Amino acid sequence: MADHRTPIVPPDADNISAAARRLREGGLVAFATETVYGLGADATNDKAVAAVFQAKDRPRFNPLIVHVKDSNAARAAVRFNPAAETLAEAFWPGALTIVLPRLDDRIGLLVSAGLDTVAVRVPNHPVAQALLAGAGVPVAAPSANKAGCISPTAAGHVVFSLPGPGDGGPDMILDGGPCPVGVESTVIDLSGSSPVLLRPGGVAAEDIEAVIGPLAAPGENEAAKSPGMQERHYAPDLPLRLDAEEPHPGEGFLAFGPGAPEEAMNLSPTGDLEEAAANLFAMMRALDGPPFEAIAVMAVPDRGLGRAINDRLRRAVVPADG
Ligand code: TXA
Ligand code: MG
Repeated sequence: MADHRTPIVPPDADNISAAARRLREGGLVAFATETVYGLGADATNDKAVAAVFQAKDRPRFNPLIVHVKDSNAARAAVRFNPAAETLAEAFWPGALTIVLPRLDDRIGLLVSAGLDTVAVRVPNHPVAQALLAGAGVPVAAPSANKAGCISPTAAGHVVFSLPGPGDGGPDMILDGGPCPVGVESTVIDLSGSSPVLLRPGGVAAEDIEAVIGPLAAPGENEAAKSPGMQERHYAPDLPLRLDAEEPHPGEGFLAFGPGAPEEAMNLSPTGDLEEAAANLFAMMRALDGPPFEAIAVMAVPDRGLGRAINDRLRRAVVPADG
C-alpha cells in the first residue's frame, strides 16, 4: 500500500536540496512561507502543475501564484511596469502577489489557467527562499490544502489535508514552524490600465495605496474581464462544441483517449487525465483560430482532474463574462 502520510522534515541543507531536486524532477513538495504553507511544483512543467490540482482535488483550474527568489527572477517571468517596480521595491520579499503580462514562455499555461498574465510573488520566509534558490526554477504554489479547506499555517495541517507521497501528494513538507503572517498574500493586478485589488491579504491595501495610489475593486476597471476572479480563465474566440465524436467540416478537433483520428490534437492518447490537464490550455489555444471556425471536443470522463477539465470546457461554451 502507498504511503499515507507525508513526512514533515526540518529545513536543513540536505532536505532543502532533496526537495529542490524533487521539484526539478516534476515532483511535489510542500513548504513553509510567511503567509501559509504552499504546495509547490515546477511552474515550467505543466504535468507537475496538473499534479498539484490533482493532489488538492480542485474541481476547477484557478490560476496559481508563481514564486520566484527575487525581483530579477520576477522581471524574467513577467513584464514589469513602473507600478510593479514600486511595489516590488516596497513589499518584496513579502506577502504581496503581483499579476502582470507573461514574458517567460517556459512558464506553463496551466499555471495561469491559460491566461496571458502570471501572478508572481517573492516570499520572504527563509525556507521558501532556500527552496527557490536550490530549485533554480519558478515554483507554482497554491496553499497546501485540499480544495475548499482552510489554508495550512503549520506543517501538521498539511499532513491531514493532502494525500501522502504514494497517493499523488507531496513527497515531503519542509517545516518552517507556524507561518508568521498566517493569511494568504494580497493579490494586485497590474496588467490593466489601473491597479486592481484581486484579493486582500497579508499586506494591507492601505499600505499599497500609500505607495501607488488608489486600488480599484475587481470589476470596476475591468469591464472586459470576467466578474469574480475565481471565474478567470482562458476563453477561446471560436465556438466550442462538446461531446463531439468527430469533427464537422471547418472544426478543429480536440480529442481524448485512444482511437482518435491521427490529425486531431489529443489531450491524452492514453486517456491519462493528468496529461490531459497539462495539455488543455495549450491545445485549446492552438485550435483557436484559422484555419478553423469552431472547435469540437470529445467527451472527457467526469472524474478526478476530468471534472476540472469539463468545468473549463463548459465555461468556454458559455463564457463567464457573457
Ligand atoms: O500566500 C499565498 O499567496 C499562498 C502562498 C503559498 O504563497 N498561495 C496562495 O495561492 O494563496 P492560491 O493558488 O491559493 O491563490 C492564488 C490567487 C487566487 O486568488 C487566484 O485567482 C489569483 O491568485 N491569481 C493567480 N494568477 C492570477 C492571474 N493570472 N490573474 C488573476 N488572478 C490570479
Ligand atoms: Mg488557497
